[in-house]
Amino acid sequence: MNYHQILKDIYNQIQITIEVGEVANYIPALQNCDPNDFAMSITLIDGTTYNIGNYNHKFSIQSISKVFAYTKALSLMNGRLNQRVGVEPSGDPFNSLIQLEHEEGIPRNPFINAGAIVITDILLSYYLDKDTSFDRFLQFVRNVSDNENIHFNEEVYKSEIQTGHRNIASAELMKSFGNIENQVSDVIESYFKHCSLEMSTSELSRSILFLANNGVDPLTKKEILTSQQASRVKAVMLTCGHYDASGDFAYHVGLPGKSGVGGGIVAVVPGIMSISVYSPRLNSWGNSYSGTKALDIFTNLTGYSIF
Ligand code: DON
Repeated sequence: MNYHQILKDIYNQIQITIEVGEVANYIPALQNCDPNDFAMSITLIDGTTYNIGNYNHKFSIQSISKVFAYTKALSLMNGRLNQRVGVEPSGDPFNSLIQLEHEEGIPRNPFINAGAIVITDILLSYYLDKDTSFDRFLQFVRNVSDNENIHFNEEVYKSEIQTGHRNIASAELMKSFGNIENQVSDVIESYFKHCSLEMSTSELSRSILFLANNGVDPLTKKEILTSQQASRVKAVMLTCGHYDASGDFAYHVGLPGKSGVGGGIVAVVPGIMSISVYSPRLNSWGNSYSGTKALDIFTNLTGYSIF
């Protein structure tokens, strides 16, 4: 497979849509980007990488951090997680509060905001000390990514703190149902730091390579998850990774994937490669417009849809 040529073809084709969609504005600091930026990276199981566009530019990974948080929580709790958060698609936007009331504070899945807030609460309880909790989570992400140069962006974090009313509301609602153990302010601060992590597409695609290899990083040989746990993360990515557009993503792209409102998407071709794409203009569901398009073209050209 000529991946160089495939990435060039994608780059040329997405120029048509690169000005379609809007950069997220409900977190003001996310507007500090070039709206027409684009990058894409793939990492094969043997470590070979292919990149195109602005692939060393670090951007806000936002909800893609939910994959790392869920990975850590699953490795700690396994099946016991199900008492706190489900694995069903929500069919609602990522920040919706509607189901939470009906379903007594148990979020549908770990990839909507409410689910990730519960996961953050679980990690906070595990790490015990709220002051070092985020640093330990960050160390986990660096370990998984085999990269010490991963940080969070203070300006994005502060911007989220100032505007994150819906997240605070959902955390308070879940606390009222007994599904948040720690202080809401501590959980929310930690959650926003997760979302404010920054990575480039080349770093991101490397960081999820373990999911393409049954939970084991094929290059460092570290076991991040068991094979069964890795299958579960990928299953939830496929069914819930793009919120109420997860069906659309499965239909057009056909890979387990996870998006973020910063404009990034990660996807996995099991047994073959991990992929990351970045383009900050979003579609109406809050997923990267041209990023989704790029992955759609990718699976068309390679035939790598899991279906
Ligand atoms: O909590 C939020 O709303 C953001 N920090 C993350 C949301 C997000 O990335 C949804 N992704 N498409």
